[in-house]
Amino acid sequence: MERPAWAPRSIDISVPSVSRIYDYYLGGSHNFEVDREAARKAMEFMPGLPKVMQANRAFMQRAVRFAVDEGIDQFLDIGSGIPTFGNVHEVAQSARPGARVVYVDHDPVAVAHSQAVLAGNEDAGVVAADLRKPREILASAEVERLIDRNRPVALLLVAILHFVEDEDDPYGAVAELRDALAPGSLLILTHASYEGIPLPAERAAGTVDVYKDIRNPLIMRSREEIARFFEGYDMVEPGLVSMPHWRPRTAPEDEDPYAFSGFAGVGRTA
Ligand SMILES: C[S@@+](CC[C@H](N)C(=O)[O-])C[C@H]1O[C@@H](n2cnc3c(N)ncnc32)[C@H](O)[C@@H]1O
Repeated sequence: MERPAWAPRSIDISVPSVSRIYDYYLGGSHNFEVDREAARKAMEFMPGLPKVMQANRAFMQRAVRFAVDEGIDQFLDIGSGIPTFGNVHEVAQSARPGARVVYVDHDPVAVAHSQAVLAGNEDAGVVAADLRKPREILASAEVERLIDRNRPVALLLVAILHFVEDEDDPYGAVAELRDALAPGSLLILTHASYEGIPLPAERAAGTVDVYKDIRNPLIMRSREEIARFFEGYDMVEPGLVSMPHWRPRTAPEDEDPYAFSGFAGVGRTA
């Protein structure tokens, strides 16, 4: 198989990756046949998966604009993925020129492509790191350079925590990041769940099996379990809701039924 310029030598392009599968769902071009095959298999169980991803992106963009309106001008986006259109730096920097953005991902393609997209953007940077090691993220040169830890930050954990298993202590990692950020910081989060999916859970479980097969299990958590990630945060209105219900710009009733899968919320530390 020919290796395109955006695929670092270190990666095994015969194994599907979560970030490239997601890129495919969003209509991007940074994916291989193995990724498309896994995505199509997952869609046999949940044909509306791209609609879930689009609702997730639309929420993220509304939440970033909300953060800017709240006076936030620095963003730490962990699990930022392969940039497509309407990324955090585009939304934040067009609403607030000079806004600082740090992308963090453990996927080499996501990191390499983010670096290419951000070349020449002095106010944004990329860190290759793992959410399960928050201390490494906080101590990274790009976080040191771009984020003033004495002022509020918007921390984005959008569509990432459902890839972190309980045994890897996702709650501990989220708490460590919360404690490291200044009061008034925001947590912007989405998470997959069996709740809200317009299908019986047994059928949606077929999608979960696809991710298990590629050794990146998708952890479906209940609304209650997802709400626990906001410990130490006050929920911003309207709380933890399905994605189209978070400060919508268009009528939620016009959304595809799949857009209501999983949960989205924003919290603020006191
Ligand atoms: C579904 S994508 C979401 C991308 C983006 N946040 C969005 O919502 O559009 C999930 C991303 O999280 C990354 N990821 C998964 N587990 C991670 C971990 N433990 N540390 C860092 N990144 C991780 C994947 O590589 C992938 O790029």
